[in-house]
Amino acid sequence: MRYIGGKTKILPFLEEIITGEVKKAESFCDLFAGTGCVGRYFKPKFRIISNDLMYFSYLLNFSSVGLNKAQEFENLGFNPFEYLNNKELPDVLSEGFFEKEYSEKSGRMYFTLQNARKIDFVRAQIEVWKNEGRINSEEYLYLLGCLVESVPFVSNISGTFGAYNKIWDRRAKKDFVLREITPVSNNKKNKCFNKDANELIKEVEGDILYLDPPYNTRQYISNYHILETLAKQDNPEITGKTGLRVNSEGQKSDFCRKRTAPKKLKDIIENAKFEHIFLSYNTEGIIPLEVIEEIFSRYKNYKKFEIPYKTFKSNSRTKDRDLKELIFYAKK
Ligand SMILES: C[S@@+](CC[C@H](N)C(=O)[O-])C[C@H]1O[C@@H](n2cnc3c(N)ncnc32)[C@H](O)[C@@H]1O
Repeated sequence: MRYIGGKTKILPFLEEIITGEVKKAESFCDLFAGTGCVGRYFKPKFRIISNDLMYFSYLLNFSSVGLNKAQEFENLGFNPFEYLNNKELPDVLSEGFFEKEYSEKSGRMYFTLQNARKIDFVRAQIEVWKNEGRINSEEYLYLLGCLVESVPFVSNISGTFGAYNKIWDRRAKKDFVLREITPVSNNKKNKCFNKDANELIKEVEGDILYLDPPYNTRQYISNYHILETLAKQDNPEITGKTGLRVNSEGQKSDFCRKRTAPKKLKDIIENAKFEHIFLSYNTEGIIPLEVIEEIFSRYKNYKKFEIPYKTFKSNSRTKDRDLKELIFYAKK
């Protein structure tokens, strides 16, 4: 998934840096996990603890990082992907939330009518199976995780759900398919959380702590509100041109606010019960680099690494700027 601050491209660099500093470790905590690509990458090596404030991120991480095997759907008795992907929609289908609010019908051109109806059908069917006790709670979370993973492939957006395109993108015209996430086993008890990082840090401990907080003022809940609604299955009150979730104040991040971000970062490092701490940040982040240096240099072995950074593609404003991704390291 295209994700603000997503780290897919820098994973090999990150690994090189971590391997250079850490000789022996059993656990790795991805405290701001987003898409879960970091946890997935390091899962073969470490026991993973993953966390994010967004519930849709929790589901993506649960399905790929938390689980160690594919779900069996024994009680359901058939493959839900085959069923959901092949089922013809009935001609008379009551209008669902996505059709009403996020299809061409509503004027919010996030999905074609056909795809919005299919998404509504999949959402409703998953709920029916859960309510009838035909899928267990792991299978339920896993199916929703797959739904979150699949929907961006047919969304009429360029980058985030902060806005929809005014003309149909080629991707959006493709038929919606529910994709399977295939978890890779590491035979370890990985754990996934959906908490505020500053709270969770007081409850977990381990060897490596990787911090990838937001670095600018773009709130994730506003930019991925549709994924959050898919994940929560709550069909909330929405508002405005893009149909934002109304009650989302509690999911706004202090790391996206200049005034609060430095203190929140400092608190995490102070409370961390991890031997090795790595922080990803970039040269245009809202926490001044001197502040980060000051926080990290209080600890042992402080180092700063620079990675040439290809800026976030959908944002033409920053395209050619000389942004650099930085990795800060300290030992506690
Ligand atoms: C830069 S992104 C992480 C990207 C991730 N490493 C990836 O490659 O997909 C920052 C993440 O921090 C999460 N976040 C923001 N504030 C948070 C908080 N206070 N506690 C936990 N997660 C938070 C956001 O929801 C977002 O997913």
